[in-house]
Amino acid sequence: MQDKRIGLIGCGTMGSAIARGMINKGGVEPAAVQVYDVKREQSEKLAQELQLVAVPDLAAMIPYCRHLIIAVKPQDMAALLKTIAPLVKPHQLITSIAAGISIQFIASLLPPGSKVIRLMPNTACLVGEGAMAISSGAAVTAAEQEEVSALFRPLGLVVPVPEKLMNAVTGLSGSGPAYVFLFVEALIDAGVNAGLPREVASALVVQTVFGAAQMLRESKLHPAELRNAVTSPAGTTSAALQVLEEAGFRGSLGKAVMQAFRRAGELLS
Ligand SMILES: NC(=O)c1ccc[n+]([C@@H]2O[C@H](COP(=O)([O-])OP(=O)(O)OC[C@H]3O[C@@H](n4cnc5c(N)ncnc54)[C@H](OP(=O)(O)O)[C@@H]3O)[C@@H](O)[C@H]2O)c1
Repeated sequence: MQDKRIGLIGCGTMGSAIARGMINKGGVEPAAVQVYDVKREQSEKLAQELQLVAVPDLAAMIPYCRHLIIAVKPQDMAALLKTIAPLVKPHQLITSIAAGISIQFIASLLPPGSKVIRLMPNTACLVGEGAMAISSGAAVTAAEQEEVSALFRPLGLVVPVPEKLMNAVTGLSGSGPAYVFLFVEALIDAGVNAGLPREVASALVVQTVFGAAQMLRESKLHPAELRNAVTSPAGTTSAALQVLEEAGFRGSLGKAVMQAFRRAGELLS
């Protein structure tokens, strides 16, 4: 039986999503989770919702945990790591989800030999459909990386990647739900513009995105194959796709992801 005692530091958007996912979908016992946030009301609200323990300071929490999950903003990482450094023990698995913060940077502020894991989730972890990538520092064994992956798997897909690809993951799937939300919002507006009531357009668009994603997952076909299958010669879909290509839809997405990728590399500065 794996030791699932967890300490979560940072109870904002992602920290809360992780706690909810692990408890509601991952079978983690609420009593085994301790949470801490500099905003006390934030950790207490989460603790009340999930029946877990909000601690007033890190000194009480850290010796208790097998897993430390750090979910604070990148710019808060250095100060936090300096605070926890005297408290962490060599057997603990320290998982950071901070965008753009390298394993080497984290390890440099912790005692030598600390086991550091970097995981890039996205907000869909909240509904158990997250897309996550994981990399580990040299002190982490394959079995330990698997232990962390198993903890996060109830929140969605966990894919191992070399750390040098983490900023690319951040630009693609870390920020990805926001691209999809923008796409959905624009499509709904387009439906309204074409005469549909907003709630009807909204229901149709959300189901269309969900259904298309499900088709991609189940068929395992290349998206171009699925697109070609619904694009009849001189038909409506073909006319619409022509407009999107002319407007640079594909190129804009490529540039957007590259911009997020570059930004992830700048976050510490
Ligand atoms: N949001 C996403 O979709 C997403 C996706 C992938 C990865 N991430 C990563 O997830 C991390 C958290 O993002 P978020 O959106 O959840 O941020 P958030 O909502 O701002 O939550 C972070 C929380 O941590 C608190 N905090 C700051 N310093 C702390 C400390 N030393 N000890 C304990 N708590 C502290 C913050 O308080 P204050 O507000 O008072 O500072 C805030 O309540 C970031 O590093 C981000 O790169 C986020």
